[in-house]
Order: sequence, then C-alpha cells, then structure tokens
Amino acid sequence: MRKVIIAGNWKMNKNISESIDLANGIQRSVYDVDSVEIVVCPPYTSLGDVREVIASTNVKMGAQDVYWEAEGAFTGEVSCGMLKSVGCEYVIIGHSERRQFFGETNETVNKKTKAALKNGLKPIVCVGEKLEERNAGKAFQVVKDHVENSLSGISKQDMLNVVIAYEPVWAIGTGVNATKEQAQEIHKYIRELLAKMFDPEVAKSIRIQYGGSVKPDNIAELISQPDVDGALVGGASLKVDSFVAIVKNCV
Ligand code: PGA
Repeated sequence: MRKVIIAGNWKMNKNISESIDLANGIQRSVYDVDSVEIVVCPPYTSLGDVREVIASTNVKMGAQDVYWEAEGAFTGEVSCGMLKSVGCEYVIIGHSERRQFFGETNETVNKKTKAALKNGLKPIVCVGEKLEERNAGKAFQVVKDHVENSLSGISKQDMLNVVIAYEPVWAIGTGVNATKEQAQEIHKYIRELLAKMFDPEVAKSIRIQYGGSVKPDNIAELISQPDVDGALVGGASLKVDSFVAIVKNCV
C-alpha cells in the first residue's frame, strides 16, 4: 500500500532561527503520527540546522532543487552528494516556479531526477498545467508531456523511489485548489501513463501528491480520492499549526 506523504515546501522563506523554530514546532506535534510520512523542505541555508532539530524524529528532510553534476565549476549550484551529506532524503525537482523563473525544462528535470536516484535521494518530481493550458483543454496533454519527458529512461526499480507531485500552476498560492474531482481525474491519468511507461505494478506503488492551495480544511477530501497519496504544501507549511493540522487530517 502507498503511505501518505505530506511535504512542506518552504520556498524562499525562513532564516535559520525561524527554520529551527518551525521544525521544532512540527517535530513536537507529530511525534505520534506513524501512518503519514512527513517531510520538510527548507531553503539550502537552513538544511544543516533543521537536520539537528529533526534528528531521531519521524520528520524527514528534503531540498527544493539540486544540480545533476557531482562537483566542479558550477557557481551557485548544489550537488546530490552535498544534499545527502547534510541529511536530505528527498529533493523537489521541477517545481513550476523553477520552470517559470529559472529556465527548468523537462530535459533538466530528467537529468536532475536521474542524478538524484543515482545518489540515493528520492525525487519529488513536479508536473502540472498552467491556467491558459487548462482553459484551452490541454491539461492532460501538458501533464503527459511533463510525465513522459521528465521520467524517460528511468528504470522500474528506480521509479519505486520517485514521488510525483501534480501541481496545477493555477492552484499554487492562489487559494483556489483543484477540486477533489479535478485532482483525482489527473492523478488517475498519471497512474495510467506510468502503467504504460513502466508497468502496472510499478504504477500502483508510486505515490502521487497533489499540490496547490492545500489547507487544513481541504486536505481530507483531497486525500480521500483513490489516486491522491499526499500533498506538497507551500503557504500552509510555513506555520506549525496549519502544517500539523494538514498532517493530522490525513490520519
Ligand atoms: P501553495 O504552494 O500550497 O502555497 O499553493 C504549493 C507549492 O508550490 O508546492
């Protein structure tokens, strides 16, 4: 069975002391939750300190991006090995903000995903259509393009360590979440694609998170959908109370 996974994407928020406070608040409130996998994704600068806070707790850590090369003259970039060494288990790859503002493409997402898997990091690969694409009836087509090209050439075995996050861009930070029906329809479609690309057993094992304006009061209905296996949470992951409530509403 697929274990529900709730990940908090802190984006470019929280300095070190704020990160320590947030991680501490979360860690203290979820110690008794074992049916949900809980991940926090602080900015790079806070990873080392958050690692200390969550050591020997049930909270795991991820980064928000990574570069595919192992080392070298790539000013400003961070490698998979570096993320492993600072205690990351997960890494978000291909978030729509990176696609929109930083030139991320399916091709770079694919390289980063392969590098992460090779180095024992679990990628959370983000896919999802923009509003104009949905309005033009192209949501399925865009998601297909993201899934097929971001995940091409990955082995079935490696796919078992991949999490996919379906994040419709129009729902991110807008307060307008996809309805449970809209989410389920795309998640089911993604699982069918995975069955064709890999095999039905692999497709059944892969967790597909929903992301976009997830809040304590909408998580329960989203997670009730058969193909929704968790959430990637932005804004509501920045406060202890709302993030913890989202986790607990999945139990
Ligand atoms: P949001 O962001 O929860 O603030 O909509 C989600 C995300 O970007 O991962």
